Amino acid sequence: MNSDIVLSITNATKRFGPVLALNDISLQARRGEVLALLGDNGAGKSTLIKCISGVHQIDEGQITIDGIATSIRSPVDARAAGIETVYQDLALFDNLTPAQNFYAGREIAGPSWLPLGLRFLNSRRMEAETARVLDRLKVILPSKEATVALMSGGQRQAVAVARASVFARKVVILDEPTAALGLREARKVLDLVAQLRAEGNAVILITHNMEHVTELASRAIVLRQGRKVGEIIPSKTNQQELVSMIVGA
Ligand SMILES: Nc1ncnc2c1ncn2[C@@H]1O[C@H](COP(=O)(O)OP(=O)(O)OP(=O)(O)O)[C@@H](O)[C@H]1O
Ligand SMILES: [Mg+2]
Repeated sequence: MNSDIVLSITNATKRFGPVLALNDISLQARRGEVLALLGDNGAGKSTLIKCISGVHQIDEGQITIDGIATSIRSPVDARAAGIETVYQDLALFDNLTPAQNFYAGREIAGPSWLPLGLRFLNSRRMEAETARVLDRLKVILPSKEATVALMSGGQRQAVAVARASVFARKVVILDEPTAALGLREARKVLDLVAQLRAEGNAVILITHNMEHVTELASRAIVLRQGRKVGEIIPSKTNQQELVSMIVGA
């Protein structure tokens, strides 16, 4: 069903000097599905999602969103197109609270020339909205006023995924969201991913954890040395086969 395709990438190429990080990549992500992106270290996974989220630009190829050719020149463009990303290196502001992190750069707070009273009201609104979202996603934090610097890896990851879930309208990209987490914290993040999918987003999940792939992803794309070497249905793919596809044995 073509109308389910939210994001489509066609023949994308990305070079870093002599390194061909993406070599003729095509993929489609559909509403209400988790698409896994698999590949060994250096395969090009993060580069690919950074080209979707506006951190990098593809050198050749095309990106369409809801069937419309779209040039994503910056993270602001990507957000405006309904794409939210949780990066591998997380990108939360340590010295800010969850609410301040949620709205950093989105400014419900308003300009600094606003009277202090009004700015205070807006900051109360952001806190209330953030608390509502964290409750809905069942994210439990020691204190909502504490800065994220004081949180555990899992709590930080949950805040980052929750933030993406608030602003995503079409596509959510998660680059190894459970990599540094214990079992219980990983479970919480996986539940959030399932929820993002249930809300109708196209979710692109990068992970090295095959159990997570089998649990959540209806399809997976395998990259090796910048090339797409396979597109599979995880539940129907032999693990051994998948591993040799990834490492190229
Ligand atoms: N900003 C950059 N400048 C130059 N080369 C880069 C840059 N970013 C990535 N590369 C190169 O592009 C290739 C793909 O890297 P990428 O980070 O996309 O891999 P990855 O699949 O995400 O790996 P990992 O599983 O280790 O996170 C690597 O050879 C890497 O060195
Ligand atoms: Mg990476």
